Formats: sequence, structure tokens, C-alpha cells
Amino acid sequence: MHRQLAKILDSIVIYNNIYNYLEGQLKEEVCNGRGMDDEAGVGLLNPYAQTKVGNDTIFGWWARFQEAVASGADAVNGTIGALLEDDGSLAINQVVDAAIRQAPPVEIAAYAPLKGLPAFLDLAVTLALGENRTKLEQLGITTTATATPGGSGALYLAAANFANRGDKVLLRDRHWGPYKGFLNGCGLTYATYPLLPSKDSSIPYVDIAGFNSELEKLCQSQDKVMTWLNDPAHNPTGLSMTAEGRMALLDAIMESASRNENVGHTLLLDAAYHLYADEPHGWAETIAEALDNGMPWPENLLITISVSLSKSHTVYGLRTGALVSLHPDSAVTERIGTVMGVTGRQTWSAAPRIAQYTVSTMHADEQSGAAWAGERDRLRDLLVTRRNALNESCSKLGVPLNPTMDGFFAWIESDDPTALAEACAEQDVYLVPLTGGVRIGLCAVPLSQIPRVAEALANALA
Ligand SMILES: Cc1ncc(COP(=O)(O)O)c(C=O)c1O
Repeated sequence: MHRQLAKILDSIVIYNNIYNYLEGQLKEEVCNGRGMDDEAGVGLLNPYAQTKVGNDTIFGWWARFQEAVASGADAVNGTIGALLEDDGSLAINQVVDAAIRQAPPVEIAAYAPLKGLPAFLDLAVTLALGENRTKLEQLGITTTATATPGGSGALYLAAANFANRGDKVLLRDRHWGPYKGFLNGCGLTYATYPLLPSKDSSIPYVDIAGFNSELEKLCQSQDKVMTWLNDPAHNPTGLSMTAEGRMALLDAIMESASRNENVGHTLLLDAAYHLYADEPHGWAETIAEALDNGMPWPENLLITISVSLSKSHTVYGLRTGALVSLHPDSAVTERIGTVMGVTGRQTWSAAPRIAQYTVSTMHADEQSGAAWAGERDRLRDLLVTRRNALNESCSKLGVPLNPTMDGFFAWIESDDPTALAEACAEQDVYLVPLTGGVRIGLCAVPLSQIPRVAEALANALA
């Protein structure tokens, strides 16, 4: 009896710690989403502001998990989108943490240059392109980078500058929920194509036919088209494209740009989780290979990469990332650098300095860079073992999990995601119902509890 009570109390302490950590992140959603009077402030808020309503789905399901723990249930937490150790504490890259604590006071207190610290901007290009950077530069590709408050800042820069107000941006039908808000805030909406191809497609994990047909429609009605692609390690499914899929998509957008020479084409690669993927720099490799094979780069095509240090360096709260753009004409990349710098200045001023300083100093030294990679590998292994266990348990039980390879999440399609998540919650397994399916936060579920996730899904589907 005593032991059971101690176990419950321990769980409550752990989850209270997580609660405190997430409280800041979620405060806005809670205020917006719960018990607010829709009419309040109508005379003060502009019509667009009035459309902003809280989206507390993830918080709501996480709160239910907490309540279950508090009432003594042995509940499983698949709700949170941050990497947790198997004991439920926040996973932290210890090498980054130690380096931040040693930073000189001035690197904490001072502003960064408006576009970012030069050493960080250089690092951001390497983080985006990896070992293919030199080859791409030798092939004539020029780059520019702007430091941003996280990957979210980079997405905002792209939304604000690479599309005309009123345009549609092309997304896959399963995508990270906040994309809609970034786009709407810049006067944009979106069109979608399916995440996965039909069964008879020869190219796996990307619906090239759907992509082509939506892209063509947009080219008929817009003089700029932009598409956002969260690859590798897609949120919310964990899907990563293959080399063949990447080449087919690159080919498709290059071909469209050549055919529609008066339509600007921007391919944005959202690399929020790429450093945890099996092929972190697959896109740079594919681009280099295409150029090497003589693929001509149309001047109306831009490739831009949204880099985030939040997960790769576990500095979620230090708000550090970059937008890295690639084009063969240096005049174009220079101009883009200026536009992004000015947009940042007019939106958040400069991005925070401390992680720019620490991470660029750390990666400049071979030994500390290797130590970071060691820690990153340790954290990636948490995800790999949890994912392997989930795939194995699901296939044993016949649970039709979506293909999932890398990153923080796994996914199951569902016509009624809420009913599926409710049926799992009845078995004390808490997941998040989203549009078109249920997200399984592998990043949060301890390895020992993974089989329970598969069992809950199997029972729920039965
Ligand atoms: C798909 C995706 N893109 C971008 C981001 C941006 O992350 P941040 O702004 O914390 O760097 C996230 C964070 O969860 C994400 O899941």
C-alpha cells in the first residue's frame, strides 16, 4: 500500500515538473481556449484578431493524462511534443547545457547583429546542408542565412516575403497545425495534396501526381507559388521521403518553374527535426546530385530551408533558428538576405544572441562538436528504440500504423480521431486526435510503455 502511494506521489512530482515547464508554452492557448467570452473586446480587436481562437487540443489531452495520474492510474503519456527521457523528465543535450552556462555575461546580455552573428549564420548553412555544402558551392550555388527566433521565426519570414497576400501556399494534407496561423497572419491560405501516394504509384512516401496537379492549378492563378515540406522526420507522422521521392519532387518543381517562367517558385524545406533523422542532409544530397547530373536551375526557383535549434540542441526556450536560402545568382541571395533582415528588424528586432554564440563556438571546436553529436545520438536512440518497438508491436497486433521512420511522432489515420483517442484514453493511454488521425508522441512515451500504446490502439480498433 505504502509502495503504491509512493509511486503515485513520485509520478505527481515528475508531472508537476513537466507541467511547470509547459505552462509558459501553453498559457496563451489556455487563456484563449477556456471559458473566454467571444464577444469580449470586440470593439477593440480588429476583425482578423477576432478570428483567433485557442487551440487547446494538445493541452486538453495532456491535462487529462495528468488527471488520470493524479487519480492513481498507471497512465501513458503520448501527448507532449517535447523529447522526454524514459523517466519522464525533459531530455537535455548536456553538452549544450554546459556550454551555455559557461558563456561570458556579455554574450547573454548584448543584442545580436540584426541578421545574426556571422559565425552562427555560417553554421546555419552547414546545419542545413551538411557535408554537401562544399559540393553545392562548387556547383555554383550561393547561400544566405538570417537568424530567427526558432524555426517558427524562419517560417514567418518565408510567409511574409515569398507569397503575395491572398495567395495559397501548397502543403501536404497532414501538416503541423501552426502552419495555418503563420500563413493566415500574412494574409495567406493553403491548398493541400495527400501525404501518401495511391497504392499503384512507383515512388514511395510522396504523392507526386497530387503535388503536380495542385501546383499546376496554383500556377494558373498566382504569379508566385510556394510549397512547404516538413521533411525528413515529418510532424505529425514521422514520415521521411526516400532519395527517389526527393528527386521526383525536385524534378517536378524544377520542371514547373521552367514551364511557367513568369511564376516564382519557392520550395521551403522545414527541417525542424532533421538532425534526428537517418538521412539528415538528404535534401542537400539530392540537390547536389541533380545539379551534378546537369539539371538546369531555373532563375524563378528558390529553395529555402527553415532550420530550428529547438530540438537538435534542446534549446526550445532560447528561440534560435535560421532561414537559409539557396540560388545560383548571388545578387538574388544577397537581396533575399536584406529583405529577411529588414523583416526581422520590423517584427522581433534581432533574434536572441546566447544560443547563436554558444552553438557556433561549440561547433567550431572539433572536440566539443563531437561531444554534442554524442549526446544527440543518445537522444536519437531514445526515439529509434521507441519507434522500432511501436512498429513491431503494431505489426504483431495488426494495427495499421502509418509509415514512420524518424523524429518525434508516429501517426494512425482515422475517420474519427476523437473516438479513437477516447477509446485509448479508456485504457489509460493518452494520445492526441488531430485532423485525419491520431498523433502518438513517441518523444514522450517511455520505452517500457510502448507495447501498451499498440495494445490500446488494437483494442480501440477492434
Ligand atoms: C514541423 C515543425 N516546424 C517548425 C517548428 C518550429 O519550432 P521552433 O519554433 O520551436 O524552433 C516545429 C516545432 O514544434 C515543428 O514541429
